[in-house]
Formats: sequence, C-alpha cells, structure tokens
Amino acid sequence: MNMVDPQLAPLSNDIKNDVKIDIKDNQFLKDVLQGLSQTNKTLPCKYFYDEKGSQLFEQICELDEYYVTDTEIKLLQNNMSDIAKFIQPNCNIIEPGSGAGIKIQLLLSALDQPKSFTALEISPSALKYSVATIKKKYPALEVNGLLGDFTDQENINKIKGSQGNNNLVFFPGSTIGNFEVDQAITVLKNLSSLAGDGQILIGVDLIKPLNTMLEAYNDKKGITAAFNKNLLHRINSELNGQIEVEQNFKHQSIFNAEKSRIEMHLISKQDHSIKVNGVDFHFKEGESVHTENSHKYSTTSFERLANLAGLKIKQSWYAPNKAFVLFLLEK
Ligand SMILES: C[S@@+](CC[C@H](N)C(=O)[O-])C[C@H]1O[C@@H](n2cnc3c(N)ncnc32)[C@H](O)[C@@H]1O
Repeated sequence: MNMVDPQLAPLSNDIKNDVKIDIKDNQFLKDVLQGLSQTNKTLPCKYFYDEKGSQLFEQICELDEYYVTDTEIKLLQNNMSDIAKFIQPNCNIIEPGSGAGIKIQLLLSALDQPKSFTALEISPSALKYSVATIKKKYPALEVNGLLGDFTDQENINKIKGSQGNNNLVFFPGSTIGNFEVDQAITVLKNLSSLAGDGQILIGVDLIKPLNTMLEAYNDKKGITAAFNKNLLHRINSELNGQIEVEQNFKHQSIFNAEKSRIEMHLISKQDHSIKVNGVDFHFKEGESVHTENSHKYSTTSFERLANLAGLKIKQSWYAPNKAFVLFLLEK
C-alpha cells in the first residue's frame, strides 16, 4: 500500500483506488469514517471550514436571508459604549472561532486600550487573514493566532498558559448553537477556563418565526447549499474520496421543533455508493448525512445551559424583536 500526502494535488479516481492515506494521524479521516459508519450518517460541521468553506461562509454573511451576522453587528454597534463599560482597561481578549475577524474590530475600537487579542481558529486561511488584518489596523495591540480546534483541551491549555487569569472571551456568531447540550456545556466550560476570573461576551440566536429561520439556511442563490456540499468536495480532495457530489447529493435545511434547531443535511438523490480512502459507504435514495445543527434558544433555555457550565448571566443586550442577544457571562 502506498502512502500519500493529502496536501498533494487532487488524484484521479483510478489512482485513488490504489493509494491510501494513513488514518493514524488524520483526525479528519477518522471523524469522516466514523460519521459515515453510523446508522444515521453524520459529518462534523467544523470540517466545513477549509479555504473555500471560509470564503463561502463570508458570502453567507452577506446574504439578505442570513439575518444572523447583520443583526449581531447592529446589536454590537448600537450597544458598544454600554458594553465597553463592563470591560476593564488593558484587557486580554480571546476569540475562539474568530473567522474573518470582523466583529472583534467593533470591540477593539471601543475598549479602553486592550492589551492583546488571541484568535483560536480551525481554518488556516481565516486565521491568517484575521491576524494580518488586526495587526495592521491595531499596531499597538499584541496579536496572537493559534491554529486549532477550540473543543480540544490542549489548545485551551496552550492559550491559558500564555495569557493572564482575567480575560475577555468573545464568542459571537451564535457558534454555540452548533453544539448539542453536552458538547455546548463543554464548550462553555472551555470558554470559562479561557476567561479565568474574567468574562465571556457571547452572541446567541433566539427562536423566531419558522420562515425566517428556514430561509436563512436555504438561500435563493444557493450559497448555503454550496457551503454544505463543499464538505463532500473536501473529502474528495483531501481524503481520497470518490463522491459524485452534484449528481448524487442535494442540500436540505429543516427545523427540528423538538430540539429547537435548524439542521442541515445532504440528501442522497438516488441509491448509490461512495468511497472514502478505499472504504465503501452505501446510500439509499432519500438517505441523509446530517452535517450541522444551529440551535435556537430562549433566554430561559440558554440561561439553564450557562448555569450547567457554572456560568451566570451578568448583563444582556437584545436586538429588536428579541431576534438575537449578546450575553455577558461570568462564573
Ligand atoms: C459561524 S463562524 C463565526 C465566525 C465569527 N466568529 C463571526 O461571528 O462572524 C464559525 C467560525 O468558527 C470556526 N470554527 C468552527 N468550529 C471550530 C472549532 N471546533 N475550533 C476552532 N474554530 C472553529 C470556523 O472556521 C469559523 O471561522
């Protein structure tokens, strides 16, 4: 068996049959094989974000239907002077899942001489871009970037070791909504650990009329569909995948009322098989791969979650019609 470097140029399908990636050190491959082996197939949403995925996410943020970004930016702008009053001068700011680093700039410009900004991001291209942009715009600020997963305790410890014990953790974008209860509690505990004796400013999307939520994840231009399918293209290019993406899969977002969440799925258009690194997976017509959750909270349900992670709400800022909320959390 030949070993291939997944970073090399894409392989043609006949070559993909002959070569194998070593699963040992490849977490992406491990997670994909595990997710596709389940009765109800899943793929973790953190793998959406390669360079193409990060670009598509930025395009989603510009869509009329995707109210999340615009609502949160306006909420930050409208309340920034009040928010700033709760944050001490010279603070260290940490943003897990910092993306393109747009929202953080509103905070950096309003706070009293912030000392440092640390981005912890899984997408290399997004991290490179945000760190470079923020360094350029805020020359007096110490800017650090760590490429990695914020659900990985090792990365949390690395940042904790290099920062003080009184930090502001910024977690906007309703990224917390991507996690089921147990995972969300772990993520909140990680944020709490990063904050030390400090605080967490977190953006949370709130439950709203069904159509508004469904349209946000089923946009007319098909950008969300491309974002969802990009995960399969990524498997093809990085994991020796043989998947006819456009021919065999369609994007679907639904609202799961019982779990109060939007779910994104990739639906098989027909009975067919795929290969990932030589392993076969069969799909029936209509079968789904569940790729992402976006939980929609009420104040009460989020407060319960925060409490389970040992956090309490110190302050709240709501968007009009309670469409979105920024919570300041502390231990
Ligand atoms: C919904 S976007 C939010 C981006 C930005 N914080 C904002 O509010 O616009 C989620 C970001 O988190 C990153 N991300 C997702 N899962 C991650 C993980 N487990 N560890 C680190 N970064 C992650 C993605 O690459 C993406 O940039």
